[in-house]
Amino acid sequence: MKCISQAANYLNITYDDARSLFLKTFDISLTQFQSFQPNLVQVKYWQHVVSLLKLQIPINRILNRQFFWKNEFILSAFVLAPRFETEYIVKIALQIYNDKSPSQILDIGVGSGCILLSLAQKFYHAISTGVDISQYAIQNAAYNASLLKITCNLHHISYEKFLQNHKNDHFDLIICNPPYITNINDVHISAMYDPPIALFGNILTYIQIIQNLPSFCHFIAEVPVNLVVDIKSLITNYKIQVFNTNHDKIKILVITNINKS
Ligand SMILES: C[S@@+](CC[C@H](N)C(=O)[O-])C[C@H]1O[C@@H](n2cnc3c(N)ncnc32)[C@H](O)[C@@H]1O
Repeated sequence: MKCISQAANYLNITYDDARSLFLKTFDISLTQFQSFQPNLVQVKYWQHVVSLLKLQIPINRILNRQFFWKNEFILSAFVLAPRFETEYIVKIALQIYNDKSPSQILDIGVGSGCILLSLAQKFYHAISTGVDISQYAIQNAAYNASLLKITCNLHHISYEKFLQNHKNDHFDLIICNPPYITNINDVHISAMYDPPIALFGNILTYIQIIQNLPSFCHFIAEVPVNLVVDIKSLITNYKIQVFNTNHDKIKILVITNINKS
């Protein structure tokens, strides 16, 4: 197809790569591609996508969607784009529960809903709750939940307030990928399109959550490697495990059956 060869030349990529991009852009299979005749609007859209790519805008931001675990998630411009390393939270939670299921799941900082909805899909008997300080994130997670036909509770509230208001609730699985970047110089160029509220934070978030953990729960969180030792030193009377991810600077922390101090 001519518009694919043109894009390949313009972006200086192979025809195969340009075709893959084309399939992703129009969400069609290779078989569907054989008989696909883009109309004028589609050709214009394709040119628009190619021109944004030329400006090095990430493909997930151009197409407003991103794969995570077993689903594709719609991504608004105001939420964090799900990362591959975050899938380890899902993977580890599934390993921990094996054939069993948690009864109440809480996702702190739910964002697009990628972690919560991936778990809720598997643990369909559990009551799943997500909180986020960003109204955009809650709307985005709700939209993804409706597309995936998953029922969950989503609250536009800060985790500080939520934990205060739900001291007696028994969440037996708490998951969290909090904003944890402390230094603006540590922000990778690819995070340029993520909202700052999803990026910048510090150890306080972990401390506040850990201090409010109910007994007999699993807390699974993404943690930057530089905070692991400090967080571990704050915890007594616990079972704590640290797992690697594909990213050498990012770990997954699992705290189990921590007692209230
Ligand atoms: C790193 S993003 C994680 C998003 C999603 N869970 C993921 O893994 O892709 C952190 C999320 O925490 C939310 N957040 C930041 N501060 C918060 C607070 N005080 N209370 C609740 N949510 C907060 C942000 O809006 C953002 O959606």
